[in-house]
Amino acid sequence: MIKEIENRRSIRKYLEKEVEQEKLTQILESARLAPSGSNTQPWHFIIVREKGLKEELAAADHNQRWMLKAPVFIVCVADIACRLEDTKNLYLDENSPEPELKQIIRDTAAAIEHILLEAEHTGLSACWTAWFKQADIRPILNIPNDKYVCGIIPLGYGDEAPGGRPRRKLEDMVRYESW
Ligand SMILES: Cc1cc2nc3c(=O)[nH]c(=O)nc-3n(C[C@H](O)[C@H](O)[C@H](O)COP(=O)(O)O)c2cc1C
Repeated sequence: MIKEIENRRSIRKYLEKEVEQEKLTQILESARLAPSGSNTQPWHFIIVREKGLKEELAAADHNQRWMLKAPVFIVCVADIACRLEDTKNLYLDENSPEPELKQIIRDTAAAIEHILLEAEHTGLSACWTAWFKQADIRPILNIPNDKYVCGIIPLGYGDEAPGGRPRRKLEDMVRYESW
C-alpha cells in the first residue's frame, strides 16, 4: 500500500484513452468500503462522461480547462439525510451551520481518498478538485439542495509524471502521549 501512497500524484494531463468500466467499478468499490462515522456511508457518486456536462462542471470548477482531457469525472456527493430526519427544505452550502455537514464531508473525504489510491493501484490517474461553489455545481447535475458536493475527480490515464510535492516532516506533525 505504501507504494501506491508514495507514487500517487494529482495529475492534470491525460491521454485520449477511455477508462475501462471494470477499473471504474473497482475504484468505486474501494469507495464503497471506506470507513464512516456510525457506518452512515453518506456518499453518492455521479459518473460523468458526457462532454457538455464535463464542460459545464469544469467551468464551474474555477474554469479548470485541463480537467476536460480526463475521460471520466467522478462527482462525489455527501448526503446529510443519514444524520437528519427532515431535510426537505434544507439548503446546504459553504456557510451552512449544521454540525452534521462536517461529519458527512469528513466521511465522504475518506471515500475520496480510497478513490485516489485505488486509481493509482489500477494504473489510472486522478486529481481531487474542489474549486467551486455548491450553488454553481449542483444545478448542472440536478443535485438536490440538501446534498453537498465534496469533490469532482477527473479520472483517466495520466500523461505526465510530476515529482512529489513537498510534505512537512514527520517530526513536525507527530507527538507522543500528549500535545
Ligand atoms: C480538497 C482538495 C481540493 C483540491 N482542489 C484542487 C483543484 O481544484 N485543482 C487542482 O488542480 N488541484 C486540487 N487539489 C490537489 C492539490 O493541489 C494536491 O493534492 C496537492 O498540491 C498535493 O499534491 P499531490 O496530490 O500531487 O501530492 C485539491 C486537493 C484536495 C485534497
